[in-house]
Order: sequence, then C-alpha cells, then structure tokens
Amino acid sequence: CGIVGYAGSTPACSKPLEVCLQGLSRLEYRGYDSAGVALSAPGMQRVAVRKKEGRLDNLVQSIDQTPLPDATVGIGHTRWATNGAPSDENAHPHLSQNEKVAIIHNGIIENAPQIKQELLSEGYTFDSVTDTEVAAKLLGKVADEVIAETGHPDIFEALRRVARTFEGTFTILATDCRQPDVVVGARHDSPLVVGLGEGENFLGSDVAAFVAYTKQALELGQDEAVQISADSVTVTDFFGNDVELRPFTVDWDASASEKGGWASFMDKEIHEQPQAVADTLLGRFNLTGDLNLDEVRIDEDVFRSIDKIIVIACGTAAYAGMVAKYAIEHWVRIPVEVELAHEFRYRDPILTPRTLVVAISQSGETMDTLMALRHAREQGSRVLAICNTQGSSIPRESDAVLYTHAGPEIAVASTKAFVAQIVAAYVLGLYFAQVKGTMYHDEIRKIVDELRAMPAKIQHVLDTQGESVREAAEHSLDAESFLFLGRHVGYPVAMEGALKLKEIAYTFTEGFAAGELKHGPIALVDEGEPVVIIVPPARGRNVLHAKVISAIEEVRARGAYTIAVAEEGDDDVRDYADVVFWRPQCPTLLSPLVDVIPLQLFAMNMAELKGLDVDKPRNLAKSVTVE
Ligand code: G6P
Repeated sequence: CGIVGYAGSTPACSKPLEVCLQGLSRLEYRGYDSAGVALSAPGMQRVAVRKKEGRLDNLVQSIDQTPLPDATVGIGHTRWATNGAPSDENAHPHLSQNEKVAIIHNGIIENAPQIKQELLSEGYTFDSVTDTEVAAKLLGKVADEVIAETGHPDIFEALRRVARTFEGTFTILATDCRQPDVVVGARHDSPLVVGLGEGENFLGSDVAAFVAYTKQALELGQDEAVQISADSVTVTDFFGNDVELRPFTVDWDASASEKGGWASFMDKEIHEQPQAVADTLLGRFNLTGDLNLDEVRIDEDVFRSIDKIIVIACGTAAYAGMVAKYAIEHWVRIPVEVELAHEFRYRDPILTPRTLVVAISQSGETMDTLMALRHAREQGSRVLAICNTQGSSIPRESDAVLYTHAGPEIAVASTKAFVAQIVAAYVLGLYFAQVKGTMYHDEIRKIVDELRAMPAKIQHVLDTQGESVREAAEHSLDAESFLFLGRHVGYPVAMEGALKLKEIAYTFTEGFAAGELKHGPIALVDEGEPVVIIVPPARGRNVLHAKVISAIEEVRARGAYTIAVAEEGDDDVRDYADVVFWRPQCPTLLSPLVDVIPLQLFAMNMAELKGLDVDKPRNLAKSVTVE
C-alpha cells in the first residue's frame, strides 16, 4: 500500500488535499485496489473522509463532483488488498466510532480479531471486515482515554499506546480533528519516511510521496513513532523516549518519477537501462581499474574470510541473483546459493560468521526478504544489501549496502532494476576476486572494460530489435501458453522473460532450463506453441551452443513457433528459428544484460496489443510489504 501524510500551516486551504493526491499518484504503483483521503482543520466536528474502490482516478472524480473542505493537515492511502476485498467500505481511511480520528494502515494486524471481540462487547460497531477499522476504533477509544486523563487531546500518545498492543506488521498514520495541526505515524516492520519542508512537513511510505516538494528526508527506525506539524518533527520510540534522527537527501528529481513523453513507465524504464547500468558502475573503480568499495563499510579481512555466499531475494531480484551465481562462482571460487527469501528462513539454512548473505531488493521493503535477512543476522552471518531505494528497511537493517543507481522504478514489472542488480552483484563478485586474489588484475580490468561497454550494447538492442519483437508479439497474440528456455546464464534470463509475460500479459508461461526439455516439458509443445530460446554465443567452442540449437530443432519438429535470442552472426540459428532477436557480441557472463531487453519489450508489446495496463497489472503490487 502507499501512504502519504501532510501537515501545513493554518489557515485551512486546499494544499493538504493537493499534496495527498499528488503523493498518491506517485505511490499508486504500491497498490491500486482503492484509494482514500482524510482531512482535518480547526473547527471540524469530524474528520472529512472520502474513499473509493478502484484506481485513484475514481477518488479524484468523486472529489471533483463533491469537493472536500479546506484543511490544515491530511492523510492519503492507496491500497493493495490483504485483509478484505477491494470495496468502498474496506478502503482506507477508517474512522473511530465518534469520527474524530481517521487512520490509514499498511500491513496486517494479527491480533485484530481479539481486539475486535473486546470492542464488540463494549458496544462498538463495524462497517468493514478490515483489521484497519479495528485499529481505528481502538485508537479512537484510547484517544478519548488520554483526553480524560490529561484534559487535552494527544493523538501522538494515543497512537504510541495502541502501537504497543498490536501484533503483526504496520505503518499507521492518523489525524484527529481535535488536533488539526498534526499528523502522527508509527511503524513496525513496514516502511515510513519523513519529508522535511519549510513551514510544512510530510510523511510517506517512500520518498516518492513528497519528492515533488522536498528532497530532505529522515529515515524512521523500527518501532518508532513520529508527529509532524507545520514547523516541527518529533520522533520517539513507542514509549515516548527520544531516538536518534537519521537524515538523508534524496538523490533523484521528481521528474525521474514522471512518465515524460513515454506511453508507459515500463517503456520509459526499459529505455533507461543503458543509464541504469552506467550509473551503477560509476565511481566504483579507481583510475587503475581497481575496485573501490569503501562505501560498503566491511573490512577487506572480513571479505577474505567469507567462504560462502547466499543470495536471498524474490521475483525478478532472485533471477538477478541466479545470474550472479554463475559469475561469482566462476570468478571467486566460493559456493553461491540463491534462495527465494520466503523459503530461506523456514528451512533451517546453514549460516556461519563466514557466510555472506546478499539480500537483493529493488524496493528495499519486500517483507519476505526483510524477514530472511533478520534471520541470517540472528544466526551470526553478515548481510549485504543490493538495493535501489534510499531510506528503505532492507539496507537499514543490513551490515552493508551496495546501491543500484537505476533511479525510481515505477512500473510494477521490474526492468531497469534487474540489469542494475546484475551489475551491482558483478561489481561485488569482482571485488571479492580482487581481495581474495582469485583473478589477476588484468582479468578483472578486462571484465570491467566489457561491463563499461554494455550500456552502448543495450542501446543498440533497443535501437534495432523493436520491429522483430513487434512481429513476434503480433504472431503470438492468441497463444494460450508460452515456453521460455535457456542454459547457463540464459536459464535465469528465460525465467525472467517468462515472469514478465505472466505479470503483464497474463499468459501461462513456463521458463526452465533447456536441458530439462526432454525430461518433461516437451510434452507441452503443440502445433503453433510459441517457444522462446536464449541461445548462448557460438564463439570459443561453447559446447552449450550446439545443445541449445538441438533444443530448437526438437521443438520446431513438433510444430512450435520458435523465437530465438542469439548473437549477431550466428548463422546456425537462422535455419531453425522463426524469428530472431539479435544481441551484439559480448562475453557469455554479460549476455543477460542484453538478452533480457527484447524479452521485456516482447512482454510489453503483448500487454499493449491485448489492451492491458502495462504499468499496473491486476492483483500485483510493486512492493509487497506483507509476508
Ligand atoms: C514483487 C514485484 C516483483 C518484484 C518482487 C521483489 O513481487 O511484483 O516485480 O521482483 O516483488 O521486489 P523487490 O523490491 O524486493 O526487488
């Protein structure tokens, strides 16, 4: 879910609503089942709330038809349903019984059923089936208790009290119309950052919520609560004790999270990949080509002592980890395991102080990955995050971080983050090779030069392959299912290409290792079935090349429509493939950086041709902050 909060100066005006709607439009990628806002101003008898099922546009239309009053503070929410189906009732904000307090919430409050029972027995009533309404009713009750005790409203104290009783995960923001100068928030295992303005302050699930207004931000730690007013920000733990503040400056402009002239964010982000690769390499090598990773703040001796790497990640980030495994094992000669974060914690993994756990995450907020990294640290291993989002939870809770500099990724289906994650993991692998001495300086230097040549090669693919991609998409439009296959680093690329198609074109697609074809999947191949095959380079007597060509022959013989991704000049492929997406020559280990590009374009074309929303596919959210 996406969360935004705003506190500005009096008198009441339309700015709180404007900030909330603008913030929600930038956060909509975090969920788009429903959206809502709540506003407070001096003199209001109850909080003004409007919420609507569906996209943010529905809410905006409803407000256009029946305007909301001017206000001094506001909160806004865009929802990815976890508890209760998408509907107007289940949308946030939710109100306290006396409608003086409104809250928005991201996460799941696990003890909500017990709290609800108690509140029901005290005569409280409920309009929705959400845990958030339970939290709203409880917060309203405690807010009244605080007034009875102290003689004045103190929603900050009330929120801290209820936060102490909740089990599960939450970010909660609240407004109380009896205190129309503040917005309060609390977080436990769910993201929340503060934006520092002049005469106004902001809250957001990530900096996109307020980057159009300020680039100065504060991270909030685990189990911290915050109160913002027009000219103050107070951060405490849940017991009211002061905590250390962690300021940072956002390193990208608001325009980076705008679509510009592109048809979709995905289209824009696919075309930003040359830049994402170049920026992720920038500043990480000195003039002699040696890697300089001072930024990760782990001693070289510690790196030397590492004897195993475990990559934990989900979705696209896990496929980037699978690609990196091939390179790092080859370069550093230590085992690299890649584990889906949600499986990792529950299988009693073998972790020692000599294990480095690498958590890869674009958003830095994926709950499965966060929980897995906590488990690794509890077991005494060090965790290094590869992450694209400053101020997010995963880097904050890791021992070290290597940022991917892909810029904000808005489309739900990940593209530029994937290539940047591979590059960052390769930088890490080469650094390991340097400190452990498993490669000669010249060998590292050569790979660094090849990496630096990749942005131009990606650009070449973008410039030249659009037409064949469109042709293949048009041909396959009515296909009910697809197969994607590859070997070696082509295997995770096949998985990633298949994932893109599932995510945004809603087609049953299986990605697998080409060697498995004869062990089962070939039974699926029928007349006209599209099969996408990643062909490794033929150069250097690559034995896998011939084997993958045989795989194409096998599926073609059974009537498949074959789409190959192959190296320019690979004449063997021409004879067997119906369509070829050509890649410029590059070392096999770097080929995923170019091979994935036409597959991303292919999925995007398929979704566009089917008339689907490329950026906001059904049922998905960009950042899954529940386990
Ligand atoms: C969600 C998204 C995927 C993404 C995965 C991991 O499932 O829909 O596109 O790959 O989360 O996200 P992360 O932010 O941790 O990289």
